[in-house]
Amino acid sequence: MTGDSTVPRREFVKAAVAIGGGAALAACLDRESVDIPGGRDDLSTLPDRQHAWDDFLSTDDHGNPVAPRHHAVWLLDLPGGGPPTESDRETVERALRGLERAYERSNEGLLFTLGYSRFYFDRFDADLPGSVDLPAPEPLSDFEDPELDDPDAVLHLASDHGSALMAAEEAMRGERSTANGVEVGAALTDVFDRRERRTGFVGAGLPADNQDVKGVPDGDPVPDEAPLYMGFKSAFEKNQASEDRVTIGEGPFAGGTTQHLSRIRLRLEDWYGEQDRQDRVAEMFCPAHAEEGRVEGVGDNLGTDSGIDDDCTDRIEDDARERGRVGHAQKAARAREDGSPIILRRDFDSTDGDEAGVHFLSVQRSIEDFVATKRAMNGSDLTDAPAIRTRVNNGTLEYTFVKRRGNYLLPPRDLRALPDPRP
Ligand code: HEM
Repeated sequence: MTGDSTVPRREFVKAAVAIGGGAALAACLDRESVDIPGGRDDLSTLPDRQHAWDDFLSTDDHGNPVAPRHHAVWLLDLPGGGPPTESDRETVERALRGLERAYERSNEGLLFTLGYSRFYFDRFDADLPGSVDLPAPEPLSDFEDPELDDPDAVLHLASDHGSALMAAEEAMRGERSTANGVEVGAALTDVFDRRERRTGFVGAGLPADNQDVKGVPDGDPVPDEAPLYMGFKSAFEKNQASEDRVTIGEGPFAGGTTQHLSRIRLRLEDWYGEQDRQDRVAEMFCPAHAEEGRVEGVGDNLGTDSGIDDDCTDRIEDDARERGRVGHAQKAARAREDGSPIILRRDFDSTDGDEAGVHFLSVQRSIEDFVATKRAMNGSDLTDAPAIRTRVNNGTLEYTFVKRRGNYLLPPRDLRALPDPRP
């Protein structure tokens, strides 16, 4: 990588994050040259929920929380069998506190969570309490065959600034002792082995700048303003579960949540090649949105909700029979409870493996809430209509392919360092 000023800054920073490591960080620091806000000295004032991010994010003109632009996910293994030691716990907690002192908890600084899989908890004799729903991952439709991820732990890091993200990563790998000028005190890799690193981005301009990748057809079809490769704005405030709704309410892990992380490969040749904009609106939102021209551009005009209402969901079988297609959001909205979705989506795009993809990361009170939402999105109940097939005219399923799945528990902050299942 070079500091070539002809490469647009957004593309450059994304590429640096995807590559990672000290040289990429140095190049990125040259380019970004921003002051990253530091963390707080009194860490006791931080929220108990690791997933409490929304109050620390910036908002768009309508008041929707805006996701941080750059993301990294680490899959971590604890070497050896059996439970961790007290000293392992202290090291992990020291490392995480180091990050909290180094960076403001915000999109300008750094947001992170650390979660644990069912395979981690299997190291202990005791089982998780009934108040935690954390099954091992499994395929969630009969038309997918994903690899099932089984690391012990998963770290998710996010920031608007690629340089902040990468410096935090370097510190957590023990490649540097400071981050943002603050001594961090320990590295996560003092305890864990890193098995895999995934990276990604979300936000206006980033997908368009990075569309020269397998899965996106030639001709630069991704609109400049699109926050995601598929060309529409997602995660409107009112189409998200609230942080309260996704928080575990009782038992020792009260204040925690569960995280599902899948890797989805995108194949957008037909999405952009065979379909026109009307078709895309119908398949992403619902046919009525297309007919009534409700979505302008990438959908910013929609405000704080996608406009998928009871009318859309009530007419889904009629749409399947009479209009010959159903929309992604229209199907997923059938999993709402009390009028709101039950998962909080924090997904982002990626060029990992040199192909366009999505790391679909969501948090929800139980993994069953994710499974129920995915079931609604599969639309397998709609294929009686002649035009609707498992993957055709069935929302976005023709263009999205699930390659991996994993489930994790994000404990409350005070139990985030290698928790016992019965703390
Ligand atoms: C390729 C990946 C995906 C893209 C680009 C995408 C995009 C979108 C868009 C544009 C909307 C409408 C706007 C909004 O409500 O925010 C939406 C809604 C939604 N999507 Fe997705 N989505 C993807 C995958 C998924 C997956 C894997 C799930 C989980 C099963 C999911 C669950 C939902 C839910 C729950 C809603 C809101 C439904 C409601 O309003 O009740 N999406 N998505």
